[in-house]
Amino acid sequence: MRVLSLLCLGLLLLAVSSAPASAATLTPKEQLGKEIFFDKISSPDWMSCAKCHGPSVGFTGPNPAINAHGAVYNGAVPQRFGNRKPPSAAYATTAPNFHYDPTEGIFVGGNFWDGRATGDHLGNPAADQALGPFLNPVEQNNPSKRAVLEQIASSQYAGLWEPVWGSPLTYETDADVAMNYDRVGLSIAAYEGSSEVNAFTSKYDYWLKGEASLTDKEQWGMALFEGKANCAACHPAPLFTDYTYDNLGTPINPFNPWYSMNEVYLDDGSVINPEGGSWIDPGLGGYLATLPESYFSDMGLVKAVVVAENWGKHKVPTLRNVDKRPSSEYTKAYLHNGTFTSLKRVIDFYNTRDIGKWPPPEVPQNVNTDELGNLGLTRAEVNAVLAFLGTLSDGYIPDRPFNTAAEFMGDATRPVQLSLRSGNPARAHDAGTRFELALARAGHVELALFDARGRMVRRICSEALGPGRHEYRWDGTTSRGELAPRGVYFAVLRSGDAKDVRRVIWLR
Ligand code: HEC
Ligand code: HEC
Repeated sequence: MRVLSLLCLGLLLLAVSSAPASAATLTPKEQLGKEIFFDKISSPDWMSCAKCHGPSVGFTGPNPAINAHGAVYNGAVPQRFGNRKPPSAAYATTAPNFHYDPTEGIFVGGNFWDGRATGDHLGNPAADQALGPFLNPVEQNNPSKRAVLEQIASSQYAGLWEPVWGSPLTYETDADVAMNYDRVGLSIAAYEGSSEVNAFTSKYDYWLKGEASLTDKEQWGMALFEGKANCAACHPAPLFTDYTYDNLGTPINPFNPWYSMNEVYLDDGSVINPEGGSWIDPGLGGYLATLPESYFSDMGLVKAVVVAENWGKHKVPTLRNVDKRPSSEYTKAYLHNGTFTSLKRVIDFYNTRDIGKWPPPEVPQNVNTDELGNLGLTRAEVNAVLAFLGTLSDGYIPDRPFNTAAEFMGDATRPVQLSLRSGNPARAHDAGTRFELALARAGHVELALFDARGRMVRRICSEALGPGRHEYRWDGTTSRGELAPRGVYFAVLRSGDAKDVRRVIWLR
C-alpha cells in the first residue's frame, strides 16, 4: 500500500518535473562555459573545475573529508597540493577589477585570495582567473593551452563553440591558440556570471523582494550583523563583501598539505614548496611584491612600503552560500587556509580573538584590531548571527502559490531519513491533520503540502530543527486562507538532500 502510494508520487513528480526551478535558462555562451566548467580537462584526465568548486556547497570545495582536515585540494596529479582553500566561484564575477583606491589608500577587487587575477587581461577578474587552473601543475596540469583547446574540440559539446564565437575552434597558429584560449576564459566567466551560478535565490533575496519572511532570530542576527557584530563593515549587503583586503589574524592551518610540498616535485624536477613547513602565506603583499616598481611609482607610492602594509592581507570573501551544504553534519572549511571548520568557530574567533585562547596569527603584521577581536557577543547573539548567515544559501523556495512539488524538492535525492506521520483521512472537524516529524539529525526543515497537480497549497514548516520529534498541524486551509477542496494531497518534507513524502486524503 505504502509502496504503491510512493510509486504514484514518483509518477506525479515525473509529470511535474518538466520545469524545475534549478534549470535556469542559459545563453549559448553560458552553456558552453558550463560544459567546460564540468568537463574533465586535465592531465591525467579526471579533474574539472567543479572538483574544487561544487554547486552543492555554493561552488566551494565539495569534499567534506578534505574540508575537515587540510581544506586544500589536490590537483590532477593526486600527490600535488596547492596552498589555499577554494573560495566560492559563485559571485566571483561581481568583483571589480583589481585597483588602488587613492582616497582610502587601499587595494580593492580582483579574484583569488590575494587578488592576482586582476581583470586587466579580459576585462573581468573571473575571466582572467579561469585561464589559470587548466595550466597550473598543482591543479589541472594540462601541458599547454593548445592541449586544453584540443580537448574542447574533441568533446561532445564542441558544436556549441562556433555559434557562440562566430568562428571554428582552431589552434593551428599561436595567434589562434591565444585568441581561443581567452575565449575559454570568457565562456567560463559567462557561466559563472549566469543566473544559475550567481543565483540570488537565497531566503534573504526573497525577503528583500517581500516574498519570504525572516524569523525573529534571523532578523535579530541581521541587526547584529550590521550593528554590534560589525560584520557589515567588510561584508556589506547585498554581495556581503566590499572586495577589500584585511589580515584578521587568521592562524595557520597546521593540516595544510602545502607544508609537506617540499617533498613533492613537478615534471621539470623543481620542488613545489621549497619552504616546506616554514612557509607563511603573504596574501596580497605577496602578489604586490611581484609587480614592478613602476606600478607603484606611477601612483606616487613606494613599493616596499605598500608591500609591507599589505603583508598577510586576504580578500574579503562573499558570505553568500557560506552555510550552503547538503546536511548539517557536512563539514565546510573557512578562511583562506580553511583553519576553521564551522561557522560558529569563525564567529567565536571574531568575538573573542583578543580575550580568549586562540593560536597566534599566521602573519603578525597588519592584524586588524579596530573592527574585530572583542565584540562582546553573548552566546545567544552568536547563534542569531549564525541563523542570519543561514539565510544566505541559494536554492530557497519561497512561499508562492503554484510552486510545484518538483521545484520544492530541488536537488534532494536521498530517500527517507525522516519520518512523517499523518492521520488519514483528515477532516477539518478533527482540527485538521497532524504531521509528526522524526528527525535523525538537526537541520533546516521544510514541510509543505501539494495538490495532486503538484502545486503548493500551503507551507507548513520552514525552520531549523534539532534531532527528535516535532509536531505540526495543518488546519485544512490554503496559503490564501481558504478551506482546501477535498481530494488527495501530498505532504513533502525536505531537509538538506533528504526528503520524504506522505499522501494525505482530505475530506474537509
Ligand atoms: C585543485 C582545485 C581547483 C581546481 C581544479 C580549480 N580551482 Fe578555482 N580555486 C581553487 C583555489 C585553491 C583557489 C584560491 C587560490 C588562491 O587564492 O590563491 C581558487 C580560486 C578560484 C576563483 C576565485 C574566486 C574569488 O572570488 O576570488 C574562481 C572564480 C575559480 N577558482 C574558478 C575556477 C575555475 C573556472 C576552474 C576551472 C578552470 C577552477 N577554479 C579550477 C581551487 C581549484
Ligand atoms: C575587517 C573586515 C572584516 C570584518 C569586520 C568581518 N570580516 Fe569576515 N572576513 C574578512 C576577511 C578579510 C576574510 C578572509 C580572511 C582570511 O581568509 O584570512 C573574512 C572571512 C570570513 C568568513 C570565511 C568565508 C569563507 O569563504 O571562507 C566568514 C564566514 C566571515 N568572514 C564572516 C564574518 C562575520 C560573521 C563577521 C561579523 C562577526 C565578519 N566576517 C566580520 C573581513 C572581515
